[in-house]
Amino acid sequence: MINQLEEIKSRAQSELEHIKDTIGLETWRVRYLGKKSDLTQVLRGLAELSIDEKKSVGMAANQLKLLLEDIFKQREKALQETRILSTAAKESVDITLPGRRPPIGHLHPITQTIEEICDIFSSMGFQIMAGPEVELEYFNFDALNISAGHPSRDNMSSSWIDQSDNTGKKSMLLRTHCTSNSARAIAKLKPPVRVLTPGKVYRYEASDATHTSMFHQFDGIVVDKHVTMADLKGTLYEFVQRFFGENRKARFRCDFFPFVEPGVELAIECAVCKGRGCSLCHNTGWIEVGGAGMTHPEVLRQAGLDPGEYQSFAFGIGIERLPMLRYGIDDIRLFYGGDLRFLRQF
Ligand code: DAH
Repeated sequence: MINQLEEIKSRAQSELEHIKDTIGLETWRVRYLGKKSDLTQVLRGLAELSIDEKKSVGMAANQLKLLLEDIFKQREKALQETRILSTAAKESVDITLPGRRPPIGHLHPITQTIEEICDIFSSMGFQIMAGPEVELEYFNFDALNISAGHPSRDNMSSSWIDQSDNTGKKSMLLRTHCTSNSARAIAKLKPPVRVLTPGKVYRYEASDATHTSMFHQFDGIVVDKHVTMADLKGTLYEFVQRFFGENRKARFRCDFFPFVEPGVELAIECAVCKGRGCSLCHNTGWIEVGGAGMTHPEVLRQAGLDPGEYQSFAFGIGIERLPMLRYGIDDIRLFYGGDLRFLRQF
């Protein structure tokens, strides 16, 4: 009998270890602890035994019953826990994982450049202003000493708007330069004036690697007492070095613009060949970026300022060329082609 109990015990234990689900567990319970189980048979058979045997077998059988009930409960608990854990693993969110970044864009390289330019000039005391892109002929030309019939109007390749003034003359156009903003600024503000106006300008021309019919410029104007050409050069040198780095050279040469006298052209040392000469700079070592000069007395007079009392300098620089030179971009049209492979680099 004792042997039979031992045999039941080891069979029950090893079977229980392999049980993985509730159905298996219930079958096991019926087999080993149920009314028709081997153990129940043993307990029933006790009556036929001698008193001594009854005692020892009865005790062993009861101990086995307690043991089986105990290991059953343990197994049941263990199975419940693994079930909870595995559903938790399936359903839970791992909050330690890094989030997925939504694809967000960034500012266009030209906008980034404009912001950088504005930062540099703001730190030199310039206020940033905007003016209209559809401009009056007066501010684009007349106020800038470019009278009707002046040959420099022809160089500007204007896009006229189909709207006439009361004399029947077309009087509005897409501004051809940001100098129109400088004319507006000095007509409106009282000196001392330090204004910077970045924006889009339009020329009616075919596009190629260095031209587009829309591009950007910034124009700046300073009006004060005792302003000289040295202030103009100092301001633009400072800009070039802040934008391109301290070692970048800038060059001023005489040039003509109707709204300044004397007028200069601003060029910077070619970034590609460092001044030695290459195809980008047409072997000159220099790249023109804009014009500047001492504001013409006639322009000051038109704005109601006395050229005997105030002096002024102005400058106008193309924006696209600046990042082109800085990064060695060889085609201006890349900025406006909308190709994300290009734009994502900035
Ligand atoms: N507006 C001129 C252009 O687009 C550039 C320029 C030259 C602007 C001299 C200025 C200046 O303010 O003083 O070609």
